[in-house]
Amino acid sequence: MKAEIIRLLKECDGYLSGQQICDRFQVSRTAVWKVIEQLKKEGYQIEAVRNKGYHLEDSPDVISRAEIESLTRGGWAGACAVYYDETDSTNNRAKDAGERGEAHGTLYVADRQSAGKGRRGRSWESPAGKSIYMTLLLRPDIMPTKAPQMTLLMAVAVAEGIHKVSGLECEIKWPNDVILHGKKICGILTEMSSELTYVNYVVIGVGINVNQEVFPEELKERATSLRAELGHSIRRSELIAAVMESFEKCYATFMRTGNLSGVRAKYESRLVNRDQDVKILEPGNEYEAHALGIDETGRLIVRTRDGRKKAVYAGEVSVRGVYGYV
Ligand code: BTN
Repeated sequence: MKAEIIRLLKECDGYLSGQQICDRFQVSRTAVWKVIEQLKKEGYQIEAVRNKGYHLEDSPDVISRAEIESLTRGGWAGACAVYYDETDSTNNRAKDAGERGEAHGTLYVADRQSAGKGRRGRSWESPAGKSIYMTLLLRPDIMPTKAPQMTLLMAVAVAEGIHKVSGLECEIKWPNDVILHGKKICGILTEMSSELTYVNYVVIGVGINVNQEVFPEELKERATSLRAELGHSIRRSELIAAVMESFEKCYATFMRTGNLSGVRAKYESRLVNRDQDVKILEPGNEYEAHALGIDETGRLIVRTRDGRKKAVYAGEVSVRGVYGYV
């Protein structure tokens, strides 16, 4: 009911009468009043006028379950959200939930992570109140070998979500870093539980730098936030909802075609490595090549110095000749 009341208040230009809410949820006026009081405590500025009802003047930058669910209603990704003020890692919470049998599409969100995880065993800076740390639990009926492709879907969804709420155009560094003005704004960490031919669950963890103003010295040159680039804050819940909406569309296309062919054009249009000289750093093998794009399984297609086309599976790829993080 709380999420629905938030949604109704947001959708209503004028005043939402207490009676309207009572009728809608078949509850007493006191029950409605209690929810309104709770919302006020959480920072929602709600004006209550006798004989008129309630009017939402401003809402805080909170990412509570009710706030997220008020915006993701209608879809499946994030339509059920679990919120933590603090947890070690939302990927860990989503994996626990995956083991318990929680539903496809549930989103785990934290205001702060005490042990945020990056790729390749790195850590992920996760201070409170500023950014997005979220993990989506999925139960796709696909072969385990295809699961990594979902990371690329999420990179597109993040870039599109950012565009929707800010107008900014991000790029993607293959395979899945989202880049803004040459610096990293989002990282994605996908983990999976599977048998040889069966996926139990996939969790896609997303960290987006939203409203940070300061970065640790060692990250300054390579990381940025939406606030740093825009000069004003972004409401995190709206960005979460926009990413979920875009992800649902990409996921539907992916499941229909069974690969990335339907999302490839969107991905490649943002691919920062496209038509660039890149240095491929594979374990035990380092060489230079020219990046052409991706194939339908998400491999980076490059032309090597001797003119051969080659598909790169994983590994660190650094772009030469571009200043900054990428
Ligand atoms: C990277 O190294 O680029 C991936 C970073 C992924 C960070 C996100 S934040 C939410 C989720 N929980 C984690 O512990 N990591 C991911």
